[in-house]
Amino acid sequence: NWSMGNYIESTVEEIREKVGDRKVILALSGGVDSSVAAVLIHKAIGDQLSCFFVDTGLMRKDEAKKVMETYGEHYNINIECIDAEDRFLSKLAGVSDPEEKRKIIGNEFIYIFEDQKKRFKDADFLAQGTIYPDVIESQSVKGPSATIKSHHNVGGLPEEMKFELLEPLRELFKDEVRQVGRELGIPDHMIDRHPFPGPGLGIRILGEVTREKADILREADDIFIEELRNEGLYSKVSQAFVVLLPVKSVGVMGDERTYEYTAVLRSADTTDFMTATWSRLPYDFLEKVSNRIINEVKGINRMTYDISSKPPATIEWE
Ligand code: XMP
Repeated sequence: NWSMGNYIESTVEEIREKVGDRKVILALSGGVDSSVAAVLIHKAIGDQLSCFFVDTGLMRKDEAKKVMETYGEHYNINIECIDAEDRFLSKLAGVSDPEEKRKIIGNEFIYIFEDQKKRFKDADFLAQGTIYPDVIESQSVKGPSATIKSHHNVGGLPEEMKFELLEPLRELFKDEVRQVGRELGIPDHMIDRHPFPGPGLGIRILGEVTREKADILREADDIFIEELRNEGLYSKVSQAFVVLLPVKSVGVMGDERTYEYTAVLRSADTTDFMTATWSRLPYDFLEKVSNRIINEVKGINRMTYDISSKPPATIEWE
């Protein structure tokens, strides 16, 4: 019978025993799993843990800032923000094929990992927020999203990286990870977050990714999420976000004709992310979000709502 109090205590003990006086590095994405792993390991070994956060330029609004504040300042964890925006965006320039974009982003993460590995030559352990479902997924025949798409964050590390792995959440389900996170005092808004794909906004900007489009999408997405939270809808849906289409259409603002991008509100309800339905969000709510985005985000003049189920559609658009 799983008890959280025991779990934290005994895991902290295990981590101390395993690591001794050696050093650990961890790539903190800001997602629930890596965040809980970081705080738990930090509780066990303090400054023997060094984290890095990769700002790909494809993160949500203020994401890097929030991660640095929460984990660097509040928890006092050694964490460095690696500004890799130029690297990612320059590699993605001119590329619009979804699989190619995923590969480029995945490879860039690996290069950055290699750089970090050189910087932390004295580290013996690589910590990861692997949870039980990830263990199962990598052992069994992979699910549709793993086979159809090249999930860059499933499949492990390149061979030559000789770290010992430290995966304290390996036996936990997602709910249990969240409980541990709450118990460790991680703020609710970091714990209850919807999943965010490794390639980030790179697969929510359809077609070619540019900084300008990423900035537009960040603003729009932030409004959608803020309104979902304001209306108490955020935790009722499984995953919600905005997608930016490479389609411009004509509109009118004041006496001016506009010709701007079209964006999509996507909100899915699911238990396992293998099948999903679109969220029945209230019309008035959709109208409010649509008006706010069109009025407040320069570059978007038309909003649509995605009413596709999975299958045959997927939750993401690329
Ligand atoms: P789809 O679009 O396949 O997505 O219905 C199912 C779930 O998987 C997430 N997703 C990813 N997560 N790396 C991730 O970590 C990825 O490359 C990736 N692609 C999709 C998606 O956000 C949804 O929660």
